[in-house]
Amino acid sequence: MPPDEVTPTNGSESTVSYPISALTIVLATPEQVFESHRRTYDGWELGQESIEEHLGRRANIARFLSSFNEPGKHAVWVLVPRDDPRTLDFCCACETHRRTAIAHTKVVSQSRSNDRKNTIDSASLSTPSPPSLSIGVEDVTAYGIGAVFTPKRFRGKGYASHMMRLLHHVLAPPSSLEFPAAEWGTPPVIPPGFGNARISYLYSDVGTSFYASCGPGVEKCGGWVVSSPKIVVWEVSTLEGALDGIQSSKPDVPEGPSVGRRWLDENALRYVLDQDANNFRNDLIRLRQNPQQVEATTTGLALSPPRDAPHDPLGGNAVPPVREQSMGEARTRFALLPNSGNVDFLIRRCLFNLPPRMRGRGLSPESKWGAQLASASSGRGGKDTLDAFVAWVIESHEAPDRVLITRLRCPHSHLLSNLLSAAVEAAIEYGMTHIEVWNLPKDLRDAAVASGLGGVESERNDHLSAVKWYGDHSEDQVEWIMNEKYSWC
Ligand SMILES: CC(C)(COP(=O)(O)OP(=O)(O)OC[C@H]1O[C@@H](n2cnc3c(N)ncnc32)[C@H](O)[C@@H]1OP(=O)(O)O)[C@@H](O)C(=O)NCCC(=O)NCCS
Repeated sequence: MPPDEVTPTNGSESTVSYPISALTIVLATPEQVFESHRRTYDGWELGQESIEEHLGRRANIARFLSSFNEPGKHAVWVLVPRDDPRTLDFCCACETHRRTAIAHTKVVSQSRSNDRKNTIDSASLSTPSPPSLSIGVEDVTAYGIGAVFTPKRFRGKGYASHMMRLLHHVLAPPSSLEFPAAEWGTPPVIPPGFGNARISYLYSDVGTSFYASCGPGVEKCGGWVVSSPKIVVWEVSTLEGALDGIQSSKPDVPEGPSVGRRWLDENALRYVLDQDANNFRNDLIRLRQNPQQVEATTTGLALSPPRDAPHDPLGGNAVPPVREQSMGEARTRFALLPNSGNVDFLIRRCLFNLPPRMRGRGLSPESKWGAQLASASSGRGGKDTLDAFVAWVIESHEAPDRVLITRLRCPHSHLLSNLLSAAVEAAIEYGMTHIEVWNLPKDLRDAAVASGLGGVESERNDHLSAVKWYGDHSEDQVEWIMNEKYSWC
């Protein structure tokens, strides 16, 4: 279909206006990927970076991401005219990153021996048959969306909105959405490996309404809904003083086993996050069983399995059966798994993005990217991990003054000061003045205030976490658990 209006600006760039029905979304060719990197140099405020540095950095990140060798795990999409899908003059672009999440799902149990791969069904651990509806925790596919960008000459024509609307139709199963072909023409082709999302999510830098208005239909609604963009920020020097105060007020006689700490480099952290991901499944099931805990836990409290929990043949700690009729009006909850490629991505991105003042300081994958606590265990002679750890990155372009905590598992509030003191040490070593954590659970927040650790809680103005759910529920019935920085994309 011919464009409505063509006003070329130079040999390769135009200010073409296309009717929406003339456009579709496709995976970018390598040339279009390069062009999308080139365009963001002009559009994003990147400080002192030269175009060569910018392109080199984007190429490094792209190379690292493609090393996962999983087709479609990381993808660049472009909005193009249907009759010229390989054009370098595409309307706008975005990226998707495939992640694994877990969610409560309704599972029909047939018998105990049923093969439900990747599904922990709490009812299946009880007496088999008759068939019943129960709640399980299931692995689901999620896509993180980033780098949404329209060049200035194309802005305000509805392109980014339309790209985001079409994106639902290539990410989610076609059966879960209706495509308004009368208005938008033929649906986009779903490339192999896509069309499987239960969740997509993003971090909005353009407020709450733009992405909320980009739903899968023609109405200006039904898109991504912002979910709890809360942060707590500590000033390092103040927090250091508060930690010293707590330390000096402790009695000389130690009570109970002492708590030790070990630093986590990228490799060690990956292992810890694998364990953390396993624990997430139990956390979700326990949240369902103990709705009274929800208030304290919905934003990410890491519940630890009880020490005396029976062994679960499916890999976690067994939990009593949970039947649908006892669920009341409990909401559907999901959590992105912390070991789903994110840790390496954030650390490597941090290393590729280092500003000149931080280069040459020896930062590498072997540096301190977190700390884990352990206690001297009585009776067994060894060390017990306490299931408590903190992980962080530095985002030198976007938050150059702070250590950003990516994941905090702190099952006992008295361990918080120890974890924060590790972050303080790292901040001082890297010359950072602040520490930020996303969605600090309420009990930890209360404990921080009560013990004098302080911290200022607020809502972010940017990077607003927002979610779209594909399935039975609307976004306001769905709750994003562990909505922390680790799932950033
Ligand atoms: C945001 C952006 C992708 C929109 O692209 P576009 O093709 O012009 O978008 P559309 O024409 O579909 O929609 C324009 C809408 O976006 C809104 N918008 C654009 N920039 C915005 C901002 N910084 N804050 C809030 N809304 C914004 C416009 O107000 C307009 O709203 P309206 O339709 O109610 O008038 C584009 O402005 C851009 O690339 N900006 C720089 C990169 C960026 O910020 N990307 C988003 C990162 S989360």
